[in-house]
Order: sequence, then C-alpha cells, then structure tokens
Amino acid sequence: MGLALLSLCYLIGSVTFIVGLKMLSHPRTARRGNMVAAAGMSIAILGTIFLYQTDDGEHLHNYGWIVSGLIIGGIIGTVMARRVKMTAMPEMVSLFNGMGGLCAALISVNEFDRLLHTDPLLLIATVLSSGENLLLHAVIILAGLVIGSVSFSGSMIALGKLAGKIGVWRFRGQQILNISVLVLTVVLAIWLLLGKTTAQATVFAAIMLLALLYGVLFVMPIGGADMPVVISVLNSCTGIAAACGGFLYDNQVMLTGGILVGSAGAILTVLMCKAMNRSLKNVLLGAFGGTQSKAATQGQQSYKEISVSDAAVVLAYAKKVMIVPGYGLAVAQAQHTCHELEKLLEERGVEVKYAIHPVAGRMPGHMNVLLAEADVPYEKLLEMEQANEEFATTDAVLVLGANDVVNPAAKEDPGSPIYGMPVLEVEKAGTIIVNKRSMKPGYAGIENMLFYRPKTSMLFGDAKQVLQQLIQAIKEL
Ligand code: TAP
Repeated sequence: MGLALLSLCYLIGSVTFIVGLKMLSHPRTARRGNMVAAAGMSIAILGTIFLYQTDDGEHLHNYGWIVSGLIIGGIIGTVMARRVKMTAMPEMVSLFNGMGGLCAALISVNEFDRLLHTDPLLLIATVLSSGENLLLHAVIILAGLVIGSVSFSGSMIALGKLAGKIGVWRFRGQQILNISVLVLTVVLAIWLLLGKTTAQATVFAAIMLLALLYGVLFVMPIGGADMPVVISVLNSCTGIAAACGGFLYDNQVMLTGGILVGSAGAILTVLMCKAMNRSLKNVLLGAFGGTQSKAATQGQQSYKEISVSDAAVVLAYAKKVMIVPGYGLAVAQAQHTCHELEKLLEERGVEVKYAIHPVAGRMPGHMNVLLAEADVPYEKLLEMEQANEEFATTDAVLVLGANDVVNPAAKEDPGSPIYGMPVLEVEKAGTIIVNKRSMKPGYAGIENMLFYRPKTSMLFGDAKQVLQQLIQAIKEL
C-alpha cells in the first residue's frame, strides 16, 4: 500500500514538473508554474521520507538528520531568494545549480561506498562476469560522479566570475591541458570499471578530484558576461547527473526531473546561442567581442545630445512611443520609474509599448522578469519580430540602457563580431533617444554606429535619474 502510494506521489511529481515547465514559458503563467512544480516536488520529497520502504519493509531511520536538513536548507533558500537582487539572479542560479551537481556527485560517492562495503573485493571487479546490470550500475555511478563534480566546480567558478571576484584566466596550451585532464579522468574510470586496481577507493577519489579540476579549467578562460550560457550548459549537466541518481535508486521522479532539467538546459543553451548568432564553441572558447571592424570605425562622426526637457517634449507629443529596455535599465533598477513614465505618457494619450530582444540583459527573459516586477502589463511587451514590424509606425523610440541589441552593425557590417545577430531595427522609427551614461560599448565591446546616426540623440545619465527627470519635465509641460 505504502509503495503504491509512493509511486502515485512520484507520478504526481513528474506530471507537475512537465505542467510547471510548460507554464514557465509564458510570463502570465510562469509564477503559478513555479508553484505547481514546487508543490509536486514537495509531494515527491514527503512521499520519499514517509512512504519509502526497503525490500524488508523497513522505513527510513534517520528522520532527525533529514528534518534538520530540510529546515536549515529551507530557511537558507527562502532568505536568499527573498533578498536576491534581480541583477544577481544568474549568480543565485549558478549557486543552486552547483549544489545540485554536488548532490548528484555525493549520491555517487554514497552508492560507491555501499558497493565497496557490500563486498570488500568491490563488486565492480567481478562485474564483467556477473552478467547482471551491475556494469551499467557502475558506469552510472561514475557518470554521475564526473558530471556532477564538473557541474559543481564549474558553477562555483561561474559564480565567482559573475560576482566579479574571479577574472578570465587564459594561457597557451590551455585547451590541451583541459582535454588531457578529461581524457585522464575517463581512462581512470575505465581502469576502475575493468577491475584493474585493488585501490578502488583511491582511484575513485582521484577521478572525483580530476573532474572537479576539469570544471575549474573549463570555466576559467570564459569571459564573465558569457556566464549565463555557461551556466545553462552546466545546468544541463546537473540534470543529467541527477538523472543518473534517479537511475541508481530506481527513483522515477528523480529520473524525470533530471531528464527535464538536462534537456531544458540544452535547449536553452541552443536558443541563447542562436539569439546571439554564436556557436556554442565560440562561447565556450571565449572568442567574442572587442574586435572593432573597419566599417564600424570608418566615418565615425559626432553624436547629438538632447536635453531632458527636449526629450520630454518629443515623448509627450508623440502618438506612439516604443521603449527598448536593456541591461543598463536592470543595473539602474529603474523598472518602476520606467513604468511610471509609461503611465504618465498614456494619461496624455500616447500609445506606449516595449520592444523586447530575446538576449537583452544578462539572462534569458531578463527584461520580461524586470518589467513584470514593476507590474508592466504583458500585452505591452512586444517580441522582437513584432516590434520590428511596428517601428515604422512609431514616432519615438526611447532606448534605456540597451546597446548591442540595437546595433545596426549586426545587419550592415559583415566584419562585425555580432554580424547576423537579429537586432531591434529602431532606425525605422521617426526619432531615437538613447539613454546611457557614456559612449562606452556594451557587452560585445564594439562601437554602435546607431549613436552617430542623424535620427539619434543621446540622453546621458543613469537610467533611473534620467527617467525621474523626464517624468518631472513632462508633468511641467
Ligand atoms: P549591453 O549591450 O550590455 O549594453 C548595456 C548598456 O547599458 C551599456 O552600453 C551601458 O553603457 C549602459 N548602462 C549600464 N548601466 C547603466 C545605467 N545605470 N543607466 C543607463 N545605462 C546604463 O546590453 P543589451 O543591449 O541589453 O545587450 C545584452 C548583451 O548581453 C548582448 O550582447 C547579449 O548577447 C549579451 N548576453 C545576453 C545574455 C542573455 S541570456 N540575456 C547572456 C549572455 C550575454 P554606459 O556604460 O555608457 O552607461
């Protein structure tokens, strides 16, 4: 009865993961989707704690440890999630992802230890002749160990980079060293599986250390701003490592959850790379940005500045305004002030919409989450394709802390590193007002010729302060 109920809990858990994931694909249902999946996860965890039985009908014993872990982890997670700033979300995702990888690796350590103590000669040595599924079992233990360890150490380095504590570390022959460490890890794992050593525990520990080292070496040369893509790759690894744990314990919900995380991470990685028009290899080898193409620097002219009061007039007397949010808006935490400006303009009869580029900001859906936080209605958020169609009928575009996602070089300059990346074609609109603090480049490190074009005016300053001044100026009109 208990085990039948447990299977039902796992079924409910698996279904809620799938439903929750589907709901996450739209901002309107995302919050509820998260709750649905969390509820399913709670049912699966509580079911495991109270309904699990061994073949001899025994329940779990160490309830004190389990409940203490749940309470401590629950409190830490809740406090962190409540306190985290929206711009620090990738850091938190990285930390949680690393913890997932570590858990998966520890499951492998535990399972290996169990095998080792079940038979002092270690069953793995006799696995090949046993004809049972033990070989597969051993392979999965090692796969979970290696993938989980890489994901843990890689995510910790990614976290350090996002926090600005760790820089890029590149040297000659780095790729050869990385490949050598990986090959050595795999060779040791095969050696262990073939039962060629009696020092199994030592070799197992060496495999884990090498995998941890590989995680560090793999992420170290990658630029800090590329971390969201790297985290997505590592996220996918954690999912696979968790699925290995599910396989080892014959736990369907862990298997389903792991496979969903693994595949979702892989799809997200592909989508992010596609939206940036970069190959995964290009991201992982860190060869992005900084190279100024000739066409971009040629004909560099002077730019026009606009005062707050003039910008207020342009916006207040326009029929239709399109706001293009970017990374700078998130840095300035100006989403609420931006929503205030939008409402003020609408009170004056101006139609206001937002043009959302898929990789604006530093994480997938960054701008959607940012604007949702300020209660901007979803209907006002246009996806890139739709926005590009509407720019021609837009009187004024207000670019707020966005740079690369409006760079015309992506369409016009074959020599540009971002050539081919789909961008917001703001130049189709009547007037473009660009707010940023200086003429410094954005994430890709390249010049943006949009700023020098005749229709463009620069409105310098921190996004929040400029928006506050604009609101004041429009009220005084
Ligand atoms: P960016 O190209 O990074 O440009 C942001 C601009 O905001 C900067 O030029 C900066 O100029 C300005 N800024 C910074 N702080 C500001 C503040 N307080 N007030 C006003 N402006 C401020 O941003 P984007 O256009 O959103 O493009 C995103 C980039 O990140 C793309 O290249 C994309 O490929 C990359 N990327 C995205 C993701 C995801 S998943 N979203 C992941 C990895 C990489 P000043 O310093 O002059 O103010």
